[in-house]
Amino acid sequence: MANVVVVGSQWGDEGKGKIVDWLSERADVVVRYQGGHNAGHTLVIDGVSYKLSLLPSGLVRGKFSVIGNGVVVDPHHFVAEIAKIAAQGISVTPDVLRIAENAPLILSLHRELDALREDSNSGLKIGTTRRGIGPAYEDKVGRRAIRVCDLGEPETLMDKIERLLTHHNALRRGMGAAEVEAQVIHDELMAVADQILPFMDRVWELLDERRKRGERILFEGAQGALLDNDHGTYPFVTSSNTVAGQAAPGSGLGPTAVDYVLGITKAYTTRVGEGPFPTEQDNETGQFLGERGHEFGTVTGRKRRCGWFDAVIVKQTVRTSGIHGIALTKLDVLDGLDEIKVCVGYELDGERIDHLPASMGAQSRVKPIYETLEGWKETTAGARSWAELPAQAIKYVRRVEELIGATVALLSTSPEREDTILVQDPFQD
Ligand code: IMP
Repeated sequence: MANVVVVGSQWGDEGKGKIVDWLSERADVVVRYQGGHNAGHTLVIDGVSYKLSLLPSGLVRGKFSVIGNGVVVDPHHFVAEIAKIAAQGISVTPDVLRIAENAPLILSLHRELDALREDSNSGLKIGTTRRGIGPAYEDKVGRRAIRVCDLGEPETLMDKIERLLTHHNALRRGMGAAEVEAQVIHDELMAVADQILPFMDRVWELLDERRKRGERILFEGAQGALLDNDHGTYPFVTSSNTVAGQAAPGSGLGPTAVDYVLGITKAYTTRVGEGPFPTEQDNETGQFLGERGHEFGTVTGRKRRCGWFDAVIVKQTVRTSGIHGIALTKLDVLDGLDEIKVCVGYELDGERIDHLPASMGAQSRVKPIYETLEGWKETTAGARSWAELPAQAIKYVRRVEELIGATVALLSTSPEREDTILVQDPFQD
């Protein structure tokens, strides 16, 4: 397989950072294709932890990396994150990183609007990361975004900002917020333009050329498929398409560029922010999973909601993302439990269904139907072969595979990259 897409198959935080890092050794190029700095990817290398939000994880290994046009870029965060990993000894220059010229920018007014909406009592609280992601995507679709390439055309930038502000200032007036002066936004952009423009490139072209040369591309998804703007728990979703298909338009390649889709899947379920979560355990079990799994948001530090594995949603993701195989993560968090529950269907208004309904009301009414499996007492943490796993843990994994309709390609047994059991290398046929 030449090109692999990595997607989260639940609500994000499945442990994509480690798997992407593991796979990036086999790849030539690592590409981010959606989301922005709302993502939180943690990589642990030789005991040192690297936290990335916007930059592709491949950079930590010195792999050539790309921020595609499908990503919304906060230019100040871009500069700050480069400085942050430089302080950890990782140098990021245009030799190893390019950013799409047609990627939209996140401005301070997007961040402010995100917060104004979240704090307003009249709107729907989504529990966003407050980083301006949604408002920036709205401006992209509304055809008024300022994009990376606009930083290279200072003579027309002011006109673009003024056009953008006719929209934003009307909104701000309505929300009782102070209007923004065009010069403020202009200055904000000019302050970092020189540090961004050297990274700007025709990403669609360079990726196509590298692909034709036989290089292997790893597409690094952010968030999870249940946060997808179309296929997720709408409206409690993010503002991009997080399903695997987005790898193509989000980087400027056609759909034939993708050969293998790997779904990163946590052995239980977590969610940050508001929205339906049928298997949530707002009790001792949830507390146990949260403490064992260190379930705190990488970006916002918020406590993640925790619950049992939901095979219904993952089975749906396997289909909406075209997942070939999964990387199962954090199995060790379940070590020591007497019994483990898995959601195998839902009850909706007295009827059994085997899918997540589309409507917000129905999503909030579904009740999980559980199957109970026997737990195991031994530890699975750090296992590097199936032989090291207790029989009940293997049974659990096999049942998960059966229920979701996809097999385990990788099993991750700790944050350390070497603690990984390989069943099928996504980059190999
Ligand atoms: P936004 O992406 O900041 O607009 O937030 C929308 C929803 O997506 C909220 O529920 C966030 O908590 C969630 N979200 C955004 N990024 C991530 C992520 O990387 N991991 C998990 N949840 C996320």
